[in-house]
Amino acid sequence: MSNGLRRKLTSYGDQGFSLFLRKAFIKAMGYSDDALDRPIVGIANTYSDFNPCHGNVPQLIEATKRGVMLAGAMPMVFPTISIHESFASPTSMYLRNLMAMETEEMIRAQPMDAVVLIGGCDKTLPAQIMAAASSEIPAIFLPTGPMAVGHHGGERLGACTDCRRFWGRFRAGEIDEAEITEVNNKLASSIGTCTVMGTASTMANLTEVMGLCLPRAGSAPAVESERVRLAEETGRVAARLAVDEAAPTVREILTPQAIRNGLVALQAMGGSTNAVVHLAAITGRLGRRLDMAELDRLGRSIPLLVDLQPSGQHYMEQFHEAGGVPALLKAVRHEIDGSAPTVYGRTIGEIIDNVVDEPGQTIIRTVEKPLKPIGTIAVLHGNLAPRGAVIKQSAASKDLLQHIGRAVVFDSVEDMTLRIDSDDLDVKADDVLVLRNAGPKGAPGMPEAGYLPIPRKLARQGVKDMVRISDARMSGTAFGTIILHIAPEAADGGPLAIVRTGDRIRLDVEGRRIDIDIDEAEFDRRMLEIIDRPSPAPLRGYAKLYQERVLQADEGADFDFLQSDELDA
Ligand code: FES
Repeated sequence: MSNGLRRKLTSYGDQGFSLFLRKAFIKAMGYSDDALDRPIVGIANTYSDFNPCHGNVPQLIEATKRGVMLAGAMPMVFPTISIHESFASPTSMYLRNLMAMETEEMIRAQPMDAVVLIGGCDKTLPAQIMAAASSEIPAIFLPTGPMAVGHHGGERLGACTDCRRFWGRFRAGEIDEAEITEVNNKLASSIGTCTVMGTASTMANLTEVMGLCLPRAGSAPAVESERVRLAEETGRVAARLAVDEAAPTVREILTPQAIRNGLVALQAMGGSTNAVVHLAAITGRLGRRLDMAELDRLGRSIPLLVDLQPSGQHYMEQFHEAGGVPALLKAVRHEIDGSAPTVYGRTIGEIIDNVVDEPGQTIIRTVEKPLKPIGTIAVLHGNLAPRGAVIKQSAASKDLLQHIGRAVVFDSVEDMTLRIDSDDLDVKADDVLVLRNAGPKGAPGMPEAGYLPIPRKLARQGVKDMVRISDARMSGTAFGTIILHIAPEAADGGPLAIVRTGDRIRLDVEGRRIDIDIDEAEFDRRMLEIIDRPSPAPLRGYAKLYQERVLQADEGADFDFLQSDELDA
């Protein structure tokens, strides 16, 4: 039995009065007693004028409500924070934990028997999954879906790998102001999330892989009718969850097998490195640590199968037409635990068993004929990264995966911005660009600054890629030989702080190492000299909370007090 409106009564010391008052107020909206006696499905509304990736949320909410009501329950829409990548300062990552906290508390505080979480832009689905993993009621997710592909000069365009590609060409003087403006008009040709295998697509697909949304809901385009029908069906499922006392919570769906299935898919699909941070935060909410060694092992055995930018050529609508997540899981069936449960009641194995192959499609390859023989993400260690770092090797330059180069150090994002394009910068194509103090605490908010631009004077010479290392993140839409998430970060006493311009950096992706070439005594001496950087400004409010309680990248950059108590030390 659901409790509907009787759940979570406001505390007045008289429960009967609390319910009486609640009903009196809600009747101001015209609800009947029949409606108010139904099980309640909460629907999180993340629509915002600042978030075009969520531009279809009003339509999805209407369809979800229809599904809930067709199944006999009562939908109740409530607002939560919405975060868009380009409209969040200093970074969207800085606000992810705030959204997770706020969503969790709104689910906990308000009377609902189940909840539908509609999200899409990079940080929103991760924040919502973190929130739901810490909540006690069942939840089902509804990604907003990828945007449509644009066209320019006879080629397809998609946000936002092409944003970087064309901006790089503009910086190098290859295209003029008029053309970059024209491209700017075409890059995001509809509402919806970025259409390459960036963070939003990766997390939407992983939501499906891990059984938290309906089959095909990870990839259906934002502007197609299938997305709206999926919303209606999501509402029906949510209504069932609301009345089923045995309905699983998100915590129960996210078994170790489900998370491992997610890692398998992440490697096979060319997913974003940001997913590693988000999965670490989600598993932290479950009282577990993300198994980075297993992620790396899977990267050695599972090749890249999906031909989508930035590792390949195509866009999410082609991935969806090719069969989407179920077809991808079928291609890696030998590594998938088919017993993993889903929120809609079937196992992942049952979904895979019912996949009908799309004739002639070439977007989702087979293990025998992969797009690239290596997996997407490699996990590195070394004297520069005692707690690890990652590289998206599928989007890196093959000839730079083994490299020794001279460090050119930038002490902060601001320092990099000021000097990177200077003609006086002493830099050569085989140098290693080092950016530090750009991690969770140092920036703060771990910006996507790890994709350091190629210094302008080298870009003009035609240099397209260099080894770049940092404690920052990188957009899932970016590409290059870029080592990210170095932990601990420089601002937390990590050895990135001791690198000096002129030091030799050794990258060995095959050996999974990133090291600075100095002797041990010198290394130790420099580590003793690390000086704590002062906080950037007098801190108050959320900034203070963030600075004091944020964890490192390998722990998901969540707040320490939000992780589960059951977490192994
Ligand atoms: Fe929202 Fe890319 S900016 S998904």
